Amino acid sequence: MQGWEELEKRCSGCMRCGLGKTRTNIVIGRGSKTAPVMLIGEGPGEQEDMQGKPFVGAAGQLLDLLLSALMFRQDDYYICNIVKCRPPSNRAPTDDEAQSCLPWLRKQTALLRPKIMVCMGSTAMKHILDRNARITQIRGQWTERKGFWIMPTFHPAALLRDASKKVLMFEDMKKVKLKLDELNR
Ligand code: URA
Repeated sequence: MQGWEELEKRCSGCMRCGLGKTRTNIVIGRGSKTAPVMLIGEGPGEQEDMQGKPFVGAAGQLLDLLLSALMFRQDDYYICNIVKCRPPSNRAPTDDEAQSCLPWLRKQTALLRPKIMVCMGSTAMKHILDRNARITQIRGQWTERKGFWIMPTFHPAALLRDASKKVLMFEDMKKVKLKLDELNR
């Protein structure tokens, strides 16, 4: 695989799992393709499926607010998901669906070569960091692996359900901003 264009072209026709049959649009990623920070969610919701872009619904608006409050610049981050097609009724993707889709995420990571990966929510945490951990226990703690700094935090949709998590995700993302500034120094 050569570059982003080829990845997007090949990914767009993907039928590796059953989610391909029910999607409206494939949702590959948004943001800067040279960004040092890769933010990874779970999978597209209704708005994302309709627009073909990740995190454009209510959770995405909250995420954008949080990122701009912490002075992240647009070219600091790239946002994507564990699965590229919407799971029906917004259920979590199954392990099989995630496994079928992960090669796309690996290709995105190889092209982006981020310094920092942020796993937002337990689905991203489980498939990238630790299958058996609990997000409430490991959020906010750095892991360095294969040259990437990995930060697990809540999924922004969890903040919409429980406002007390906002300050915690803010703290975690502040650590990400500080690490970014440190790595850029
Ligand atoms: N939730 C996700 O995990 N990803 C999106 O793109 C939107 C909502």
